[in-house]
Amino acid sequence: MSGVVSIIGCGFVADLYMTSLQAMDGITVAGVYDHDATRLAQFCAHWNVPAAESRAALLDQHPRDGVVLNLTNPSAHFEVNSACLAAGCHTYSEKPLALRLEDAKTLHASADAAGVMLASAPCSVLGEAAQTLGHALRRGTCGTPRAIYAELDDGFVPQAAYKKWISDSGAPWPFEDEFKVGCTLEHAGYYLGWLISWFGSVRTVVAASAETIPDKEGRGPHAPDLSVATLFFDNGPVTRLTCSIVAPHDHRIRVIGDHGVLSCKAAWDNSAKVTFAKRMTVRRRLMESPFPRRLKLSRPTHPKVNRWGAAAMNFMLGPAEMLDALHEGRPSRLSNDFALHMTEVALAIQNAGEHAGAQAMTTTCDRMEPMPWAM
Ligand SMILES: NC(=O)c1ccc[n+]([C@@H]2O[C@H](COP(=O)([O-])OP(=O)(O)OC[C@H]3O[C@@H](n4cnc5c(N)ncnc54)[C@H](O)[C@@H]3O)[C@@H](O)[C@H]2O)c1
Repeated sequence: MSGVVSIIGCGFVADLYMTSLQAMDGITVAGVYDHDATRLAQFCAHWNVPAAESRAALLDQHPRDGVVLNLTNPSAHFEVNSACLAAGCHTYSEKPLALRLEDAKTLHASADAAGVMLASAPCSVLGEAAQTLGHALRRGTCGTPRAIYAELDDGFVPQAAYKKWISDSGAPWPFEDEFKVGCTLEHAGYYLGWLISWFGSVRTVVAASAETIPDKEGRGPHAPDLSVATLFFDNGPVTRLTCSIVAPHDHRIRVIGDHGVLSCKAAWDNSAKVTFAKRMTVRRRLMESPFPRRLKLSRPTHPKVNRWGAAAMNFMLGPAEMLDALHEGRPSRLSNDFALHMTEVALAIQNAGEHAGAQAMTTTCDRMEPMPWAM
């Protein structure tokens, strides 16, 4: 693993990238830019990384065999991603690629025309938990998967002590922006990435979304804070995906198959346990085993970040995959099509409201090749 990244936007999440980067050998930071000069200075002093004078200067000095990380707020993603692609840079964008599907399609076309990679976070799909589940699915551990229930409920966040959530270098958790963007665009990708990597394209989304707590703090308008989607894949089981900042914290995914249930309780922890509960009949009662078996891959996986919650994710797995792909002259698992399709599905759920009905997806992507250690 080696290569260079440059960073645009160094707020709350950028610190999580830097903690992850410390776990990865051989990746260096060429430069950092943020339009908030105070934040830029604070971040660069904390992490001892070079500040660029302007975005143009950062893109100018960025090595073309490196990757630019766009870690700005979602409202800036389209404009910043456009500038990176126009400069001919491989680009890894925080989610979503853009806030409108037309804009995401424009970015995808620009990346293809420039012959560069455009990937979208999240990258937990490349992590051990997602890869272990994918391995079990390919091996048929649970038999034919018939349905999936995936939950991304974060607890009643508007009542949380979020003003005390400060990153390592001193950036506050941007609650106003989080409420404005909404938990679906912020979080659906964590399980959409896993699902699309295993099964390929979603054909149809039937979803509803709503704002259940309209009096959240900060300037509105707010996005939906609860969404429920049913996803129909071309080649995968029907899936229910729930996102909220209302219901009690629950980040489980359960794959229900003919032989039992595969599950994982934590979407954000790469080391989360993956288990299989075999279905059985005891006397006349049908049940899943109360003693699920832990599934483990036999080979060493990837560097871990020994932290808690969202900070337990290795945020650099995605950029590292792009750098490795460049180095090895192969396509990246985080393909341009994958980024666009994940964005389309997330936007369809977010914007469903009360009356969307069935939405046919207009983009496609292939299943993702497993990581070499999960083959
Ligand atoms: N906060 C989290 O826990 C978290 C976790 C995972 C992913 N994310 C994602 O990371 C992204 C950033 O979130 P955050 O929490 O770090 O937000 P933030 O507001 O803390 O940081 C964003 C930074 O980008 C800068 N910025 C905005 N527009 C810019 C522009 N045009 N040019 C240069 N700099 C610009 C801002 O000044 C700010 O410092 C979002 O897409 C979010 O979905 C956040």
